[in-house]
Amino acid sequence: MRATTPMIEVRGLGKMFTLHNQGGMRLPVLDAVDFDASAGDCLVLAGPSGTGKSTLLRCLYGNYLATEGSIRVRSGDQWVELVGAPEQRILALRRDVIGYVSQFLRVIPRVAALDVVAEPLRAAGVDAETARARAAALLQRLNVPARLWGLAPATFSGGEQQRVNIARGFIARHPVLLLDEPTASLDADNRKVVIELIHEARAEGRCLLGIFHDEEVRDAVATKILTLRPALAATADMEA
Ligand SMILES: Nc1ncnc2c1ncn2[C@@H]1O[C@H](COP(=O)(O)OP(=O)(O)OP(=O)(O)O)[C@@H](O)[C@H]1O
Ligand SMILES: [Mg+2]
Repeated sequence: MRATTPMIEVRGLGKMFTLHNQGGMRLPVLDAVDFDASAGDCLVLAGPSGTGKSTLLRCLYGNYLATEGSIRVRSGDQWVELVGAPEQRILALRRDVIGYVSQFLRVIPRVAALDVVAEPLRAAGVDAETARARAAALLQRLNVPARLWGLAPATFSGGEQQRVNIARGFIARHPVLLLDEPTASLDADNRKVVIELIHEARAEGRCLLGIFHDEEVRDAVATKILTLRPALAATADMEA
């Protein structure tokens, strides 16, 4: 993908949560969010805690259904509308276009770290040997000790789990990569590795969107900053 090729186009995006078990309380979180991001960009989502940064990433990954507006993502030479897309299309986008590093690794019991990392490549059709070799190289780069590779990450430390999660997110080289505080529990050396991985991804013309509380990391990676502001106060919508 050529740098500056538009990859994501968000228009008038709104997300309102309805708390059905709390009297139907409605909680507006995102309101009229507009932005574009291109190949080679690292767009950083900023703003105080609770302004909807993680919610926005979840909408972009199709985990949350936006209440209003449009999210268009480039898939090859086509634009795909994500809001209201059928489940199958969202799953195909996650396989081929959009990667996501969640804040915490979702631990799958009994699956070895090496296979957890290799899995997105296997899903993309790469053979097991190649996928595992790439997984090993990434785990090595992120300083995860080789003695842990054959173990399930359930018992790993927070920082070790986060590095497994980062390796899993980067391995398949998705054209769009969403990062929710990937460096939060990493030491300085590993933060540097993540910064390098982001620079390499940008140089390959991938488009990244991330949340980074660490200012040093943010300054090192951001090409654009989108600051979210608190939406209007919650409105109670109780039935009389
Ligand atoms: N599934 C949900 N149901 C109801 N409310 C939710 C849900 N997910 C998020 N929220 C609410 O949306 C608001 C924004 O949450 P979000 O996690 O997106 O914030 P954030 O900007 O990522 O904050 P932080 O910097 O603390 O991670 C919060 O008030 C939160 O309670
Ligand atoms: Mg968050």
